[in-house]
Amino acid sequence: MTDETASHFNHPDRNLALELVRATEAAAIRAVPFIGRGDKLGADGAAVDAMRKFLGTVEFDGVVVIGEGEKDKAPMLFNGERVGTGNGPAADIAVDPIDGTSLTAAGRQNAISMLAAADRGSMLDAHTVFYMQKLVVGAEGKGVVDIRQSIGDNIREYAKAKKKDVGEVIVAVLDRPRHEELIEDIRAAGAGTRLLLDGDVAGSINAAMYGTRIDMCVGTGGSPEGVATACAIKALGGQIQGILAPKTDAEREAGAAAGLRFDYVYEADELVASDNTFFVATGVTDGSLVAGVRRLGPVIRTESIVLRSVSGTIRRVSADHLASKWL
Ligand code: FBP
Repeated sequence: MTDETASHFNHPDRNLALELVRATEAAAIRAVPFIGRGDKLGADGAAVDAMRKFLGTVEFDGVVVIGEGEKDKAPMLFNGERVGTGNGPAADIAVDPIDGTSLTAAGRQNAISMLAAADRGSMLDAHTVFYMQKLVVGAEGKGVVDIRQSIGDNIREYAKAKKKDVGEVIVAVLDRPRHEELIEDIRAAGAGTRLLLDGDVAGSINAAMYGTRIDMCVGTGGSPEGVATACAIKALGGQIQGILAPKTDAEREAGAAAGLRFDYVYEADELVASDNTFFVATGVTDGSLVAGVRRLGPVIRTESIVLRSVSGTIRRVSADHLASKWL
């Protein structure tokens, strides 16, 4: 039936992400008092502190390769910071204690806390260049779409591969002035858009996950988010491509000095070279990927997804936390 040596079933091992998820749960819970309070930095700071504290309990030797926050001068788990107990597997970490800080501050939907991990030395360190153009699709789109093609061609090819009418295809894209033409082109091809206020990580995962309402995620968003997304996409069997999009000469120079390439398509294996990747996300506010944190009498309920590439598992973890333990 299966190749005995390649079978995950015959060689089950530890799923680090099942421990890492406690860090995103803690970050999401600690961000709750800031939902709808107009305080982005406060929300980010509370989530960063909680994530750092819980990561410290996990038996692994992690180094933050890609942290979030520099772009907005937010508090961060800084690049190069060591996390974990220092024992166990050596890993690169990409963190975003809140992807959707503005959403959280405004009390809007779709904010998540997320982190990704992969074997040490395998993640692209793209922190010198803040933006990346991305194309993300599910497994049916692998080898079918290409970021170098027009969006119209990609939509038509992907629709064919998914056995859908073009009119049924929904493309997620950040609602930004820079995407005006892209949005027009998506609609001109006959597809619909799902305009995201923020949060292209959740948008991308929804695009690659089976059975969601989003088929494809495109456009320019954060490059840290692109690398973290690649860890998730490897577990989902989908496809991600990225092109770095420096905004200034200074960014281009810093990127070039760091060995980054421009006008170049980074495939999933270049965004994260390892095939041993983990991704976890917990909902802060309610969203299409996961529900947000809820207080239900004596408990705080969290919902998370836990992805692992080696086993190809997507777990949904619902947890009730006794609120009195979180005072
Ligand atoms: P943060 O909440 O972590 O700042 O990120 C939100 C986000 O929408 C990301 O999902 C996205 O990749 C990036 O910001 C887009 O950047 P910008 O808001 O500058 O267009």
